[in-house]
Amino acid sequence: MTDSPWWKHGVIYQIYPLSFQDSTGSGMGDFQGIIQRLDYIADLGVDAIWMSPFYPSPMADFGYDVADYTGVDSMFGNMSTFDRLLAEIHKRNLKLLIDFVPNHSSDEHPWFVESKKSKDNPKRDWYIWRDPKKDGSPPNNWVSMFGGPAWTLDKTTGQYHLHSFLNKQPDLNWRNPELKKAMFDAMRFWLDKGVDGFRLDAVPMIAKHPDLPDNPPNDTPNAQDEYSSTSLKRVYSEYYENLHPLYEEFRKVIDAYDGERLLVGEVWGPLDVWVSNYGKEGNGVHMPHNFRLINIEWKADIVQKTVDELEDALPKFAWPNYVLANHDVLRLASRIGQEQARVAAVMLLTLRGTPTMYYGDELGLPNGDIPLGKERDPAANPDSFVTINRDVARTPMQWSANPFAGFTRAKQPWLPVSLDYKTRNVAVLNERPRSILSLYKRLLRVRKQSQALQIGSYAAIETPADVYAYIREHERERMLVALNFTNEEKFVKLPIEGKVVLNTRLDSDSDRVEQKLKLRPNEAVIVELRPGIPDPKASKAAILEDRGYVLVVDDDLGARTLLSRIVSRSGLRVKTANDGLEALDLAYEEAPLMILLDIMMPRLDGFEVVLRLQADPQLRSVPVVAVTASDEKKKREASMLPGIKGVLAKAQENLVEEVERFVKELAQKG
Ligand code: NOJ
Repeated sequence: MTDSPWWKHGVIYQIYPLSFQDSTGSGMGDFQGIIQRLDYIADLGVDAIWMSPFYPSPMADFGYDVADYTGVDSMFGNMSTFDRLLAEIHKRNLKLLIDFVPNHSSDEHPWFVESKKSKDNPKRDWYIWRDPKKDGSPPNNWVSMFGGPAWTLDKTTGQYHLHSFLNKQPDLNWRNPELKKAMFDAMRFWLDKGVDGFRLDAVPMIAKHPDLPDNPPNDTPNAQDEYSSTSLKRVYSEYYENLHPLYEEFRKVIDAYDGERLLVGEVWGPLDVWVSNYGKEGNGVHMPHNFRLINIEWKADIVQKTVDELEDALPKFAWPNYVLANHDVLRLASRIGQEQARVAAVMLLTLRGTPTMYYGDELGLPNGDIPLGKERDPAANPDSFVTINRDVARTPMQWSANPFAGFTRAKQPWLPVSLDYKTRNVAVLNERPRSILSLYKRLLRVRKQSQALQIGSYAAIETPADVYAYIREHERERMLVALNFTNEEKFVKLPIEGKVVLNTRLDSDSDRVEQKLKLRPNEAVIVELRPGIPDPKASKAAILEDRGYVLVVDDDLGARTLLSRIVSRSGLRVKTANDGLEALDLAYEEAPLMILLDIMMPRLDGFEVVLRLQADPQLRSVPVVAVTASDEKKKREASMLPGIKGVLAKAQENLVEEVERFVKELAQKG
């Protein structure tokens, strides 16, 4: 439907393979089980599967401790079952991303077994070994994400090995060219088979400071840091600047293959650092996974701020993405409640950017109940920086009301099924036309049919408190999404009339809405606004296309909506500048429209801004030709602004005509 690469308009669905479907009666999920459930995934309407690790592994960290990068753990099947899985996935027009764990292997990987043997073993340098300090203590103060020091002493050779996670997950040394080559070869092994890309686990950790200095104390804990904040700022253990050359090498590996193969990075951290993972010109990972909506308070203004900050921070080449849950965090429905989980579904699938869904969220699966003492997650210990027991988000997928939710015929699944499985399962929810599962399916269909929702511009609009609403626009199609974060009725003023294409209750679907959209408690609604260039007299917000100009008269819509319209029409680069008119000259070079608008809106209180944009995006001429001013003083002020060619009188009723006349005059003047 669109020309964009599949991963821009597509939806990714994460499977935790241990918990999806057991076909053998082992109590743990496997490849054959996934094959049996592929029709379900295809019918759901997603585009790609991301499968967490399946490599041979002692399962100290449930597969994130890899003992062979080009193998398959017998628990899941063998290589030919993998090949069949991949073929069946492709047969259904789905893509497959696999997890790749570059930072550490298992201590049972033959590489580490060799490396550990002696200081002069050829594989010694494939891992990070260091002498103890004089007093015998670890070489530096780095801590393991799972608690305790990041170093373990090997008595035989008298050196410590570094492990950012468990002792059984020794960190690999990416400064060693042979190791690097072996890892890239492993990626090529899977690319040759036809996998469509990788999710790179904990990727910033592969670029450590070469001297491994002590990390400084962390005085400013940041909720956006990995898991939870550690006591140290991990500035040297995750040495971001050095990532770029490495990323370029990763990209070379991937880009040598046809078919839009994808690199997604598991990347946390402050926004500027996070953005840098896209690479300087977009030659980093295609998408650093965006977890920024996970650890924030679920409130309309906070969510909107988080999205808007991200939108503002992204360079043009960087495509956004959103993740609301995965195998490392609490279940979405338990974090925000069942009703808001439906609102979140609408948001996830309508924001600008690739959504990653987590298996079971389409059922509203809550946190599992893990009996005390039965924890499996190695991170579930009091010293860990992971503050939760991740088992709760990894319980089996619930297929039916059969024993163990149809997940296994074993005596026990590896983790208990959630208590509500008799009513919360695929079989039951599929039959209920208004279930959360039906909502996800509808949403995915609405999304698939809408270019605006897939690839359109994004602009938040003005709303009452506790509501977040935005417009997605592509060519003439405009979708307004309104999300009510409270259990009270709310009203959103519409810029123009439209028709409801979906609401979270899945009831009155084709309602026309005119000036006001009513949101029932905890309701999210998608409205298709009347398409394209509206009649300027019918609406105060007018877009006229005339003699190669796009002329925008802004009043009811916020600055962002206006901008997004202009930008989506012109293909101009977007960049925000908030530092006032002084920044004008500088920023003007970058993004002529954006700067003027962003600066003028707050500064010119009482003006309305009228923009004229040359159709030729190359043109760096003055885009703002006029402002309308409410009084003489403001008229004078406005006329002194750089770039302003005229000031119109404020006359609300005939503003559009006035602007038309103005443009005609300009055109005559040449
Ligand atoms: C991130 C993975 O998502 C998590 O599950 C794992 O424990 C760590 N990386 C270590 O590989």
